[in-house]
Amino acid sequence: MSDKPAILGGTPLFSERLPIVQPTLPDYETIAPQVREILATGMLTKGRYLRQFEERLADYLGVKHAVCVSSCTLGLALTYQGLGLKGQVIVPSFTFMATVHPLLWVGAEPVFVDIDSGTWNIDPARVEAAITKSTIAIVAVHNFGNPAAVAELEAIARRYGLRLIFDAAHGFGSLYRGRPVGGSGDAEVFSLSPTKLLVAGEGGVVATNRDDLASHVRVGREYGNPGDYGSDFPGLNARMPEFNAILGLKSLEMLEENARRRNRVADAFRKQLGRLPGLAFQSIHPEDRCSYKDFSLLVDERGFGLTRDELALALQAENVDIRKYHDPPVHAHGAYRHLYPHYSDALPVTDEVARRSLSLPVWSHMDQAIVEGICHAVERIHDHAEDVRRAVAECSPAGSGPQRS
Ligand SMILES: Cc1ncc(COP(=O)(O)O)c(C=O)c1O
Repeated sequence: MSDKPAILGGTPLFSERLPIVQPTLPDYETIAPQVREILATGMLTKGRYLRQFEERLADYLGVKHAVCVSSCTLGLALTYQGLGLKGQVIVPSFTFMATVHPLLWVGAEPVFVDIDSGTWNIDPARVEAAITKSTIAIVAVHNFGNPAAVAELEAIARRYGLRLIFDAAHGFGSLYRGRPVGGSGDAEVFSLSPTKLLVAGEGGVVATNRDDLASHVRVGREYGNPGDYGSDFPGLNARMPEFNAILGLKSLEMLEENARRRNRVADAFRKQLGRLPGLAFQSIHPEDRCSYKDFSLLVDERGFGLTRDELALALQAENVDIRKYHDPPVHAHGAYRHLYPHYSDALPVTDEVARRSLSLPVWSHMDQAIVEGICHAVERIHDHAEDVRRAVAECSPAGSGPQRS
């Protein structure tokens, strides 16, 4: 096969679109008896599989309560509400919008703080510098499954009497100092949507050692109704159906193996792509394990010979799906821009990582041939960097250069 990149007329390395993610799911036969049972009994919600799933999750995470909800977004909303977050809440902007939106739903004021350039997680030193008299909480994210600076953030929260919440949407499969993330701060909130390592179809988990918060989330997922058809506060319908709990139970059994397999895939990417100039990766603390919910590169134009956007276009021509996650970062979204004009250049690391990072396809059962194919695609694009740049410029609208997204 010619080694000319597809964007220069070569044959694409993948004949069909390689998706950004494929969930690793159980065979239908392994969950068929339980699915048959709920269909036969009509117990489709609030049943025994939800209770079982919550018990197993609490056990796995080493927390007192694991409360399942219909999504991480609503888990965060009920958590923020239960903790009474009225005031300033320090939060990263280099995250998915669902970390921040629920703050507005509960009337809190997000204060965006920059990330660390190595870990791409919120920077504890900048968190401390942003604390004011109005600060009431810190929200940190285990970005792409890389555990946040848990101990440092806990120390700051203790010192200033602040609430601490972890958006652990990417956290199943992540280990902080050898233990599953999930038991720190006031709560850690996970997502179980299909792009995650633990998949329940859709769903979320609020993990907490606080009885009052667990109780708030349990009542809050039932409209705020404590059981007497009154309501203690304005809640939501945020229940997890039985089918999702059945799928989640099976997925939990597969989690450790899937996290290990995904780490092997990530190691192979790091080893092979790390040989190319101008590519860097998220730094993971040596005692931690990243879930690699996503595998991302940081492209240095001077070293690599192409910008992130040029590489992205050339990879798409190879039929490799890519994502520019968190570009634009949340503070630049339409929903926030008008509220926070003063953030326009206050988050230089966030802006830089958002502009230069690129996520490649990754999934737990990805085989070696696909890993090699993706690496080969990046390599041959790099080998023809000058011609690729010219080709990208020719197909971009005159004078506008490559598109950001
Ligand atoms: C960091 C982060 N927080 C929250 C969410 C929202 O999760 P869900 O789709 O389960 O509501 C996501 C979704 O992927 C996410 O990436």
